[in-house]
Amino acid sequence: MHFLELIEKKKLGGQFSKSEIEFWIEGYAAGDIPDYQISALLMAIYFNGMSKQEVIDLTMTMVASGVQIDLSSIEGIKVDKHSTGGVGDKVTLILVPLIASLGIPVAKMSGRGLGHTGGTIDKLESIAGFKTELSTTQFIDQVNQIGLAVIGQSDQLVKADKLLYALRDVTATVDSMPLIASSIMSKKIAAGSDAILLDVTVGSGAFMKNVENAESLARLMVDLGEQVGRKTIAVITDMSEPLGLTIGNRLEILEAVDILKNQGLSELRAFVLDLAEIMQKLAGYPSNRAQLEQNLLDGTAYHKLVEMVEAQGGTEAALLKPIEATYQETYSAKKSGFIAQLDALILGEVAMYLGAGRQTKTDTIDNEVGIVLAKKVGDSIQADETILTLYSNQRISDSIYQQLERAIQISDFAQSNPSIIKIIESEDNLS
Ligand code: URA
Repeated sequence: MHFLELIEKKKLGGQFSKSEIEFWIEGYAAGDIPDYQISALLMAIYFNGMSKQEVIDLTMTMVASGVQIDLSSIEGIKVDKHSTGGVGDKVTLILVPLIASLGIPVAKMSGRGLGHTGGTIDKLESIAGFKTELSTTQFIDQVNQIGLAVIGQSDQLVKADKLLYALRDVTATVDSMPLIASSIMSKKIAAGSDAILLDVTVGSGAFMKNVENAESLARLMVDLGEQVGRKTIAVITDMSEPLGLTIGNRLEILEAVDILKNQGLSELRAFVLDLAEIMQKLAGYPSNRAQLEQNLLDGTAYHKLVEMVEAQGGTEAALLKPIEATYQETYSAKKSGFIAQLDALILGEVAMYLGAGRQTKTDTIDNEVGIVLAKKVGDSIQADETILTLYSNQRISDSIYQQLERAIQISDFAQSNPSIIKIIESEDNLS
């Protein structure tokens, strides 16, 4: 087989067989096919797409390129959750302990943030002492002992994705539906859970900018998961404004704690409860909102988070430590009305410029900085009332205020964003 023939085939809109996909993934992972040829193939896939069968074959070949985690020594149905990325997205920090508080085991691998998006692993590492690197044995033992663990994704998992993602990043081929679906699902499948909840975000702060594309991606990933024996449900969720009230690692940890203590923004609390009900269903239980609410109310869910923090090297005091930033400056409304826009992308970028995120993979993060919103889209506001507070350890420049002006709009009408736009599940799961 010659690789040039495969580029030619995809260029003309042809479909690859499983052995052809194995040839190029294995060849690339082994260093036998150069970047420039894979780049040409990625661009051909970008323009001509892939059939569902090709995406399944690509995903499973990618899974086989690295280690696969065997969670069979943990009793029960293990449910994983993945978000396609966003701003202020602290859902995992709330959902994982809440689900574990029901006795449903959660063994979760998470990623880091880049650019305007945050990552759960960075957030957890902002708790002093918290270790996100555990051996597979320690990871499984912890889940067996206390019912939950969240760690960073092992470098050994889906090696082909690391190479391909880095190349996609520099060849303008990240936003290809089959390539995104195979990249995400290969990592979820290799991480070993039996069932998967996918949070496919849509809006300015997300990969998918419109609901139609988010829905196509969600359907593709649900079909893919089901085809390879993983019960999968996707929710399409709004990321046109940040999730909740905070952006920035320690600020988000503190907001997650608020929700787990049955406080905080009621919309965020309701959103997490909606997702938790779906996870209960994925784990094979009837959804039980009353039980979930009870576990927030009586502190059971919060104590699960504390147990996890302590098991992974942190302390409750470190978890609850208040923010210490040199500068705290408020940004206020220029006129009265209703908040019509809090642009997630721009606010995520502002938080990144304050030091809360990385512009490149090697940047370090300042855990104490970020943004706290006083208002959400749809809220009424008076002129001079605070919309948000910036936390920073460097003087806040004029350009930050210019960006805030672009991010925020006030209108005469109240209109808010629904958290869950749509739920996508396979026909077999519908009951
Ligand atoms: N997240 C991933 O892991 N892969 C993609 O291709 C896009 C988002």
